[in-house]
Amino acid sequence: MKRELEEYSKKIYPFHMPGHKLGRINVLLDTNLMKIDTTEVEGTDNLYYPEGIILEAHKRVSKIYNSEQSYFLVNGSTGGILAAISAACSRGDKLLMARNCHKSVFNGVMLNGIEPVYLYPEYIEKYSLLGGINPEQVRIQLENNPDISAVFITSPTYEGFVSDIGSIASICDEKGKILIVDEAHGAHFGMYDYFPKSSIELGADIVIHSMHKTLPVFTQTGIIHINGKLVDRDRIRQYLEIYQSSSPSYVFMTAMDECIKMLAEKGKELFEDLEKNLRILREITNIKSNIGVIGREIVGKYSIYDIDLSKLIFVGKKTSINGKKAENILRKKFMLQMEMPMNKAFLGITTIADQEEGFLRLINALEELDGALWKNICEEALPLNKITQQEKELFDIIKNKISILPEEARNKKWESISLEDAKGRIAAANISVYPPGIPLLVMGEVFSESLINYIKKAIDNGFFVNGIEEGNIKVVK
Ligand SMILES: Cc1ncc(COP(=O)(O)O)c(C=O)c1O
Repeated sequence: MKRELEEYSKKIYPFHMPGHKLGRINVLLDTNLMKIDTTEVEGTDNLYYPEGIILEAHKRVSKIYNSEQSYFLVNGSTGGILAAISAACSRGDKLLMARNCHKSVFNGVMLNGIEPVYLYPEYIEKYSLLGGINPEQVRIQLENNPDISAVFITSPTYEGFVSDIGSIASICDEKGKILIVDEAHGAHFGMYDYFPKSSIELGADIVIHSMHKTLPVFTQTGIIHINGKLVDRDRIRQYLEIYQSSSPSYVFMTAMDECIKMLAEKGKELFEDLEKNLRILREITNIKSNIGVIGREIVGKYSIYDIDLSKLIFVGKKTSINGKKAENILRKKFMLQMEMPMNKAFLGITTIADQEEGFLRLINALEELDGALWKNICEEALPLNKITQQEKELFDIIKNKISILPEEARNKKWESISLEDAKGRIAAANISVYPPGIPLLVMGEVFSESLINYIKKAIDNGFFVNGIEEGNIKVVK
């Protein structure tokens, strides 16, 4: 395994996570990792009852993010999301949640016997992408369902679209509801003006960060921040202990602490460098004829309140592109690995660990994709403003009929059947295209014909679909 991974890092330039970009920033340089890989003994403190060196490190985190209380996460945002939902809701409660949340949110709902009430993000038809959550939708749902316990929003989205968290937080505050924001992709927010403000500053009660996505730290590292009086902090601590390892990695925790110290000391310099490289790439892409990168022009539309410009969402300017084909060419011909291909776009992640060399290689590759290779990636030259009926309905297909609650579906007997025969059946497992892992169908929902066709098309186009094995899916018996 080691040899293969080292070879991968030698040959590929990563526009993907983790944010250290395969060691281009190494916050534990010159450290023998085994020497700091310890356990809870006298002097090394305890993650769940911090009083010593971990508490000191948590205080450094709180200072940089301006949070009241923060805990390191050693199981990524996933552990923090599960703990936040379990602490904020009890069995039978309602959670108002964005339908484009990560699968961990749906798992939290299922494990806790929660009834989800969905908020639907706006749909950007021409790019087949999801936008932000309209704060007015939050108000309407809270007024229609006064028994909702908490609100869960993902902002930014995987693609970097930020919702108006300030307004959503005011509405939640007015109604006395806990606001949880999955800011997994925004651990770099609130530190530098070129990037959006953090939800911590905007009034959210719980904010969850994946450190590894956009900062130079190991995979699986994250932070949960808690603010205000609504959240039962002891419950959060208890659930962190339940969902995470009883042997949290000191290597992970030390790396997070070193990263925070580095940001405090020279974050400005590092972010300035990233901004400079991003501005050059974005300016050059602006003058291309075929390929574009989504920028500030989208802010104010589709309930998008702000955009994380470190995320590079490449799209066709006049005609749509095939994200999967473009991503393939970038890897095979240019040794550039993107984070994620999408139907009509492909996504690159940039961080402070990226180097000028990577940006130059990407600019050169874009030159060819825009010119000689254009015909290989433009999707049957379909003009962007010409949207087929099928595409218009694309987002509606995940507005599935809910038959039973996720927990109920989980506990029922199930059988495995062919996807072909699934119409009208109740799902016993979630189905999602990975990445990004947003369920197309949540357990307890009913398979429709259009959804079945969509899943088949995703498989045909080479996407990895979670929840299907050899053409079979799990349904309630
Ligand atoms: C929006 C969002 N939230 C949460 C997660 C889970 O984060 P982690 O992998 O750090 O557990 C992901 C992972 O991709 C994500 O995209």
